[in-house]
Amino acid sequence: MGKILVTGGAGYIGSHTVVVLLEAGYDVCIVDDLSASDGQLLNGINIITGKKPVFAKLNICDYTSFNLFCRQHAPFDGVIHFAAYKSVNESVEKPLDYYNNNLMGMINVLQMMNEYDIPRLVFSSSCSVYGQPKILPVTELEPLGSPQSPYANTKKICEDMIADVCRVSPQIHATILRYFNPIGAHPSAQIGELPTGVPNNLVPYLTQTAAGQRPFLSVFGNDYDTPDGSCIRDFIHVDDLAHAHLSALRFTPTHSPEVFNIGTGNGISVFELLHAFEEATGVKIPVRLSPRRHGDVEQVWANPNKAKKMLGWEAKYALHDALLSAWNWQKSLDSFENKLP
Ligand code: UD1
Repeated sequence: MGKILVTGGAGYIGSHTVVVLLEAGYDVCIVDDLSASDGQLLNGINIITGKKPVFAKLNICDYTSFNLFCRQHAPFDGVIHFAAYKSVNESVEKPLDYYNNNLMGMINVLQMMNEYDIPRLVFSSSCSVYGQPKILPVTELEPLGSPQSPYANTKKICEDMIADVCRVSPQIHATILRYFNPIGAHPSAQIGELPTGVPNNLVPYLTQTAAGQRPFLSVFGNDYDTPDGSCIRDFIHVDDLAHAHLSALRFTPTHSPEVFNIGTGNGISVFELLHAFEEATGVKIPVRLSPRRHGDVEQVWANPNKAKKMLGWEAKYALHDALLSAWNWQKSLDSFENKLP
């Protein structure tokens, strides 16, 4: 099938994608600095697939060690680039960390592609590049507004870099996946989201609250111009998202880079998600209303028709199943229980 380099393959979305790649018969080489994961997900990959992909603990911003790794393991048939910082609100507090890490990592990935003749790139982008879209559900034709956080801006700049490189390197076929909000865990509960500190994202905070590890969940803003006042997002099961990468790898774009929205097409508010979780699990969540969070957009959900038409991919899981899988994963993390920051 081929050999794929996966940056950030020990992380949340990366590990689920590695499982899908291994199951499809690809060889996988992972580089990850384990800054947002502790290696537990690598064990999970092994348990699910019975395979142990090549792994090196390194930061792709370190050109020398990344280059050495690539020299040792080339040739590659493609690279999937996940490794990046990903917290919207942290990026508002520490913009330079985000620009430094996310842009340097992208530059080095593109340099390795040139140096080792890697023909395919699948890039992990974000719907945050749209800012607040004017038309919903948003299509890929929506002009990119002004990004509302440094995190979002790093994704937009990376997309621009890829386009500039593709223009002068026609041998590179790049596919950009704009993720909406990934949630949930592998059905086996062997891998899932494993935040290293206090979770920034909604669902891990929610499951930790449900497990009694956090006293309450803060809902950031109930005065948005939405039916119930909370923000609206497109929550997609991480296993669906992982399969989108497989479809993207098998796709040869005629115009490179080709961009796809990877979402379900359903807009769900924060309150709706909370109620769906309570209904799916039978666990009641203590909630407090809090001020709006810096960098949040009010509402965004995907029109995923282009991915369906051109990649043959669409989301399959219902929200209920995604939330149940997140809860099953949380319950499997017994050893994590007393280690909260
Ligand atoms: C954003 C990006 C998404 C990206 C992700 C990476 C947008 C629209 N989406 O997700 O593409 O993959 O960052 O981290 O920019 N919330 C609470 N309480 C909490 C946590 C969150 O109310 O404790 C609310 C947030 O205010 C937001 C919603 O839940 O309205 C979702 O937040 P989160 O899970 O952090 O994801 P986004 O920031 O939307």
